[in-house]
Amino acid sequence: MFKTRITEMLGIEYPIIQGGMMWVSCPELVAAVSNAGGLGILVSAAYATKEDLRDDIKKTKSLTDKPFGVNLSLFPSMMALPNEEYIEVIVDEGIPMVETSGIRSPEEYLPRLREGNVKVIHKCAASRHAKKAEEVGVDAVTVVGMENGGATGMLDVGTFVLIQAAAKAISLPLIAGGGIVDARGFVAALALGAEGVVIGTKFMATHEAPLHQNFKEWLLRSKETDTVLVMRSIGNTHRAIKSPIASKLLDMEARNAPLEELQTIIGGSHSEEVLKEGKLDAGVGMAGQAVGLIDKVVSVKEVIDKIIEGAREIVPRLEKIITPT
Ligand SMILES: Cc1cc2nc3c(=O)[nH]c(=O)nc-3n(C[C@H](O)[C@H](O)[C@H](O)COP(=O)(O)O)c2cc1C
Repeated sequence: MFKTRITEMLGIEYPIIQGGMMWVSCPELVAAVSNAGGLGILVSAAYATKEDLRDDIKKTKSLTDKPFGVNLSLFPSMMALPNEEYIEVIVDEGIPMVETSGIRSPEEYLPRLREGNVKVIHKCAASRHAKKAEEVGVDAVTVVGMENGGATGMLDVGTFVLIQAAAKAISLPLIAGGGIVDARGFVAALALGAEGVVIGTKFMATHEAPLHQNFKEWLLRSKETDTVLVMRSIGNTHRAIKSPIASKLLDMEARNAPLEELQTIIGGSHSEEVLKEGKLDAGVGMAGQAVGLIDKVVSVKEVIDKIIEGAREIVPRLEKIITPT
């Protein structure tokens, strides 16, 4: 039933992808998503050295024999990322898929990845960037609407419009995300022209996500109106959960505070402390508007099974409405 160009390309059962998430993508989560029929993604930028990345790739392989991917960051970063070295490991370890994301196009890395038989799916937040990715020769494109958690881009196009605009702009297989948590979002994305979905925020509220209980409970009590866009003043907009420290950051941005001052909140490992140590006032905690649709911490398998079961109920119900007897 779920045969799309994405399932075929990646050799997965369901077109459900766990987007690479800094501080969240760990071998246990990634393997759980792949074992449940989707595709999990590690984040190369989370590793100080290529050998650290290799260790977690090996650990993930010990937990699943299914395909999984690695995210390669093209975002501006305080320290230059050793992407060429990460690619060496990715190719060496036979990783079948890389999710590139960021402001730059992945063009410079394509020859080496192609030579290593790695499929490249570029994630972006605008239909024109999707078109550019198609032109430079990626294998598929992911678009995420501004509802999403983590980086949202600067253009503020919502998922509903963005999927259709991107589907019109490109002929490559399209994956879509931003606010998808369940079967309804999944079916809607497919209806709008996507052949797969990417999910982030919802996978943070799972048993397998390596996050502190305080943070997971914060996700559960947050409403869809409880997020804000931070870091826009430095061209690197991220969606975070509202909090006193997020407001403090916005105040700094509103008065054009220098980067060094912003760094006291966004630098170092402050966000990691929020997510992993549950110190909710240590920094900003990234999440999408989808937090308002999450009320329980469940297993990864439950998330994916429910999406598939739900889709199988929704589609016949829609058929009845669309084709009245
Ligand atoms: C805590 C957090 C960290 C993230 N880190 C990254 C990252 O390092 N690289 C990336 O490409 N996307 C990152 N994302 C975005 C996700 O991969 C995914 O595209 C997004 O979460 C999908 O939207 P949703 O949160 O509405 O499901 C992150 C998202 C969250 C919530």
